[in-house]
Amino acid sequence: MEPASNELTTPTQDIHEAAQRDLPTMLSPERIHWGEDIRRANGSDETEDLVFVPDVVVEPESTSEVSSLLAWAHQHGVPVTAAGARTGLSGGALPVQGGIALSLRRMNRIVAIDTVNHQAVVEPGVITEELSNAAAEHGLMYAVDPASRGTCTIGGNIAENSGGPRAVKYGVTKDWVLNLEVVLADGTVMETGANTLKNSTGYNLTQLMVGSEGTLGIVTRATLKLLPLPRHQALMLVPFISAESACAAVAAIFQAGAMPSALEFMERDAIELAQHFTGVHEPVLGPDDAAHLLIEVDGFAPEDLMPQCERILPVLEEHGAGEVLFAESAAEKDALWFLRRRVGEAVKAASTYKEEDTVVPRGELPALLRKVKALGCEHGFRSVCYGHAGDGNLHVNILRDDLDDATWNHTLSVAIRELFGEVVGLGGTLSGEHGIGYVQKNYMDLACSPAQLAVMRGIKNVLDPKGILNPGKVFPDR
Ligand code: LAC
Ligand code: ZN
Repeated sequence: MEPASNELTTPTQDIHEAAQRDLPTMLSPERIHWGEDIRRANGSDETEDLVFVPDVVVEPESTSEVSSLLAWAHQHGVPVTAAGARTGLSGGALPVQGGIALSLRRMNRIVAIDTVNHQAVVEPGVITEELSNAAAEHGLMYAVDPASRGTCTIGGNIAENSGGPRAVKYGVTKDWVLNLEVVLADGTVMETGANTLKNSTGYNLTQLMVGSEGTLGIVTRATLKLLPLPRHQALMLVPFISAESACAAVAAIFQAGAMPSALEFMERDAIELAQHFTGVHEPVLGPDDAAHLLIEVDGFAPEDLMPQCERILPVLEEHGAGEVLFAESAAEKDALWFLRRRVGEAVKAASTYKEEDTVVPRGELPALLRKVKALGCEHGFRSVCYGHAGDGNLHVNILRDDLDDATWNHTLSVAIRELFGEVVGLGGTLSGEHGIGYVQKNYMDLACSPAQLAVMRGIKNVLDPKGILNPGKVFPDR
């Protein structure tokens, strides 16, 4: 079994001395951290309870500083793991082989909101919600809205190809990235494309970088697409006495011609944990409610909303939904979204857990849920499921509760392997929006053929021949 953490690594004495001598020539000493506390703080993200302490933490403020750092690391063969806000859920930002933890938090400028071309130019450390708010001031939308949007950063979103509730209508991060400035492993600075809506010029290097989890290059600037902002939303919370029926309603909603701007699924446990965690006890759940759908439709005018609701409501009835709660006021809508966005944190607060980010074609959602529950019965674990049902993306949280070490460390990886096998059998894959990172890498053989993995390794070798960029991620150990 792999360790859940490294000890404080001791780099060879000469590398350590070279770093102490050379790093201060590249960035000012107060942005280079050797102290144990700050290194420890940069050794974890939101993934389970994993901690891998880096040898040094650096905080560059410019592309040229990132370039100098990478050129140095490349020369000395030192691992570099980039991080934004450390909100990731697959361990993508964990410095699992020590070396340099490169924080991009100080590169946090919104460089431009281009209202003529509907584009934003940002540095990677910009908090996602701050960009959305800045765009909204101009009547524009940056739509990607991970649950952690108030703290996560654009750079992290690009690295993991993050999604969120609105992805069902507006897409995930990849759909919004037009062009990137990237620092390659040897310090070369390169643009991946052009600031155009269309680009058929050679290989799509922009999309190659999106979702590559800091293993191919470090993004130092991004040009992102914006859209006119839809200002009106209707939001409904829909109870079901059968969680599988709730899942079955999802594909039917789209078949009825509706295009919700969010379609979320929450098991009863997910809502109750979030209520307990936040202290918000509305809405009161019915005694038999097993699960809820949270459905949002949006538009540019109030009259855009009702026709969409009218398509959805009969489908809900056909699938045995209970009484639909319409959030009337902005405050009621905010309260429901607040609860939904806190589910992840609430689960984490309740128990040690493992989170899987399974995704299947949405019509297979009932089969996926059924399989998760059957595996739980077979292997004796409790799961709390919620997520972006409209995308077929189910976050399966397996709670440790009082499972013993043997079950938690061994039996569970067998169960998870079986689950992923089923997911792939249903036409799905391992991760919809959290990435492979550290914790899913040893399941990659289930989703990617040997040919696919060989192509990925080839790309990695061309871009990072010494393997210094975020080593120990994405690729299976064996
Ligand atoms: C969410 C995060 C966990 O959907 O992706 O809440
Ligand atoms: Zn999610």
